[in-house]
Amino acid sequence: MTSAVLDVYLSESDAEAELRSDARVGLTAVPKVLQPKWFYDAAGSEIYERITALPEYYPFNAEREILRAQAGQIAAASGAEALVELGSGSSEKTRLLLDALSTHGTLRSYLPLDVSEAALREATSALAVDYPRLMVHGIVGDFTRHLSRIPAAGKRLLAFLGGTIGNLMPEDRAVFLRNARAVLRPGEQLLVGVGLVIDPAVMVPAYDDSQGVTADFNRNVLRVLNRELGADFDVDAFEHRALWNAEREWIEMRLRATRRMTVHVAELGLHVPFAEGEEMRTETSAKFRPAGLRAELTGSGFELTELWTDSRQRFALALATAH
Ligand code: AVJ
Repeated sequence: MTSAVLDVYLSESDAEAELRSDARVGLTAVPKVLQPKWFYDAAGSEIYERITALPEYYPFNAEREILRAQAGQIAAASGAEALVELGSGSSEKTRLLLDALSTHGTLRSYLPLDVSEAALREATSALAVDYPRLMVHGIVGDFTRHLSRIPAAGKRLLAFLGGTIGNLMPEDRAVFLRNARAVLRPGEQLLVGVGLVIDPAVMVPAYDDSQGVTADFNRNVLRVLNRELGADFDVDAFEHRALWNAEREWIEMRLRATRRMTVHVAELGLHVPFAEGEEMRTETSAKFRPAGLRAELTGSGFELTELWTDSRQRFALALATAH
């Protein structure tokens, strides 16, 4: 029986402390704001899986289309000996890369980094069984804090898929790219998936689907606060909103209070007043233009080596080389 190594840099209590701090800061800010990372408890991760199967949610399928078509090219262009995957959500996409890199003959190890120890244990043990010749080494950590913990393992390819980089605010994105560059050696690479700026009539429904799955996902953050911090949000009193911010070029999700109310967050000793119609931002999902992405990569010490898009130009996978 093959077993996978797991390094743990994040504990339950770290996450709890961070949630308390984010909630205190965000619920007392004007306007109110919550961080999108808190959507993903077990229930939220399941709702996200359902989002990826929605007809309107094109980013998931578009990225998979690119990976299916280009995995061989990616493997050839990188010649990676180790695949490091940040926020290793979808094992289906991971397998496309692992298969291509294995076929190419260079791959020796797979190093997924994720905040969820449970998800990582499950994923690494399954992959260790299916790829018996691969060294599987999981890292329980946060990609905004623990990049420096990624072990040296031959030539590495750092994969950050799904468009998740778009959830970082521009300043945080710049910090992330600089940190990623700092942990890589010259010649090592970053593979990043990004949604492209396209027609808002296509982008907005991806975040406001007709079945209300995304609405349920958005409101899930309130259930997380109720459970983890003893808050008393009336989840049904908040409406899902998704809009295209043309100036910032991001999709913004908000929760809108449908009536005046005061929410009590017991574990923070906090009373949070909401006006009728008040909107609280819960996620920004930035979309990119090829020239802007190239500039951001160049500005942080990478060179854009390849940019692949899906057949409808809705999503891109960028391969960038540290120099
Ligand atoms: C998981 C970050 C890729 O921003 O598109 C899906 C999350 N939010 N629907 C995205 C999400 C609303 C998603 N990522």
